[in-house]
Amino acid sequence: MTETALTPNRPQDRILVGIDTPDPERATRLSRELTGLVGGIKLGLEFFNANGPDGVRRVVRAGPAETPRGQPPAQQRLFLDLKFHDIPNTVAGAVRSVMDLGPTILNVHASGGAAMMKAAREAADFQADALGVVRPMLIAVTVLTSLDDDDLAAVGQQGPAEDQVVRLARLTQDCGLDGVVCSAREIAAIRAACGPDFKLIVPGIRPAGSAMGDQKRAVTPRQALDAGADFLVIGRPIAAAADPAAAARAIAQELAA
Ligand code: C5P
Repeated sequence: MTETALTPNRPQDRILVGIDTPDPERATRLSRELTGLVGGIKLGLEFFNANGPDGVRRVVRAGPAETPRGQPPAQQRLFLDLKFHDIPNTVAGAVRSVMDLGPTILNVHASGGAAMMKAAREAADFQADALGVVRPMLIAVTVLTSLDDDDLAAVGQQGPAEDQVVRLARLTQDCGLDGVVCSAREIAAIRAACGPDFKLIVPGIRPAGSAMGDQKRAVTPRQALDAGADFLVIGRPIAAAADPAAAARAIAQELAA
């Protein structure tokens, strides 16, 4: 099975909302408010370690409170951002274990190596077949954007960081994964190396005029799309907005323009 679940048919399908909270009520409320308005939500280590798989299930099932009679509640799409990094056997097991949460996107660290990434892909294929579902998009983290060239050298990785990003993106592709998480300024180099079908998921997005927070080199949603991003990870500009649904709609409009 090679097809994955997330095809961006509408501009808003490219938006993945980072919900960075340990609070299940807040996450559930946001998920419900945003169902249908965005491509999905991203839950990561903070939420998962506080609430576990059952917490994740509750949040993704939190479709609109009112659904037409006889319709199942809408299900929010899930990017499960747990960044697996361990020996191949353990990562394969971790992938199988989270598959019944129905993630649309799953990720691993590319620096875990080729055997680990191939094991993740095989485990996702196997478990998707076993469950009769479309396999999740499998992506890798290359170099954490919190690391600079000196940090890389200190852990024995050869910089400059952009070269290491491209090296790991190629390896990710060779291992049969679908794409990588990258910053907007890495898009061009990865596209040149990995071609048009490799999925690029880009955080560090700020709508024009919004607070930068701790993002130092943010780009606007439109700039990220024009640069070649496939999906945009947007956290606080939507999740911390007074009206998250309105914020999501405004960004979708910017993407459609
Ligand atoms: O609130 P904000 O839009 O900055 O959130 C961005 C999301 O993307 C957060 O979940 C953050 O952990 C994640 N992220 C990031 N920068 C990276 C990788 C991931 O901001 N380089």
